Amino acid sequence: MNAILEAIERSAIRIKQAIDVKDIGYSQEQNSSGETQLQLDIQSDLIIEEELSHIPSVHTIASEEKELPMLLNEEGHYFIAFDPLDGSSLVDVNLSVGSIFGIYEGEFVGSALVASCYVVYGPRVELVFAYNGKVKLYLLQEGEFEFVKEIHLNEKGKINAPGGTQQFWAPYHKAMIDSFFAQGYRLRYSGGMVPDLHQILLKGGGLFSYPGASDKPEGKLRQLFEVFPFAFIFETAGGGAVDGTARVLTKVTKHVHDTSPCFFGSQHEISVVLSVYGAN
Ligand code: F6P
Repeated sequence: MNAILEAIERSAIRIKQAIDVKDIGYSQEQNSSGETQLQLDIQSDLIIEEELSHIPSVHTIASEEKELPMLLNEEGHYFIAFDPLDGSSLVDVNLSVGSIFGIYEGEFVGSALVASCYVVYGPRVELVFAYNGKVKLYLLQEGEFEFVKEIHLNEKGKINAPGGTQQFWAPYHKAMIDSFFAQGYRLRYSGGMVPDLHQILLKGGGLFSYPGASDKPEGKLRQLFEVFPFAFIFETAGGGAVDGTARVLTKVTKHVHDTSPCFFGSQHEISVVLSVYGAN
């Protein structure tokens, strides 16, 4: 696992350099979700693929930018799913973006996750790694990731980060989101999953939601690269991650690019989601 973490750290340093120097321009290619790929997406994907290809314990990788999983080493036992540059369209407006990694053992199913990691490329570069029951925050300083602290969620938070397009929300979802605001929760939503969830983790709690709605019944965020890795991190930090009625990590993934409605938060907010969705 150490070798994998070090490969992720090297990737992060290289991706940050690419973000800092790269001309911003759209490539002509589309990824499997039909979005136009930024050159930076492709470059970040290749950087991570190359770094992980040197690690013998890595069996297969799956990337948000690749149609199908790619076998790296038959002898390995880790299956790594990653989103190389999540929220990449935010680079041209200079907001934070991130890389997300789910490290699975033996197969790409939620219950096989053994570690998760994400990197935030913001004014500072930070890395969060969940493994062995702990969530640890690291800060990039002079080319090295230095341990800062462990992350623990409070029982209840103050942030409400509601994703999706309001006109397509179910009425009970809208009522739930409004009720959090009515209780004093503050709106914090940049449109980048990594910085938005990072903020909730570091500020002690709150709720991030990306529901199923009439335009996207299965939500937008991808299970293997986005939803499961963050679910693992939130659960390890003492919070929860559900699809409305059940833990997201129990969901069955039929295709690498499957999406799922998702809610991440501290215990209080997740219990509210379960009771609202359970009753509808
Ligand atoms: O998956 C890409 C992504 O940019 C996430 O980082 C983010 O949480 C989400 O999409 C934002 O979607 P929307 O613009 O629909 O709120």
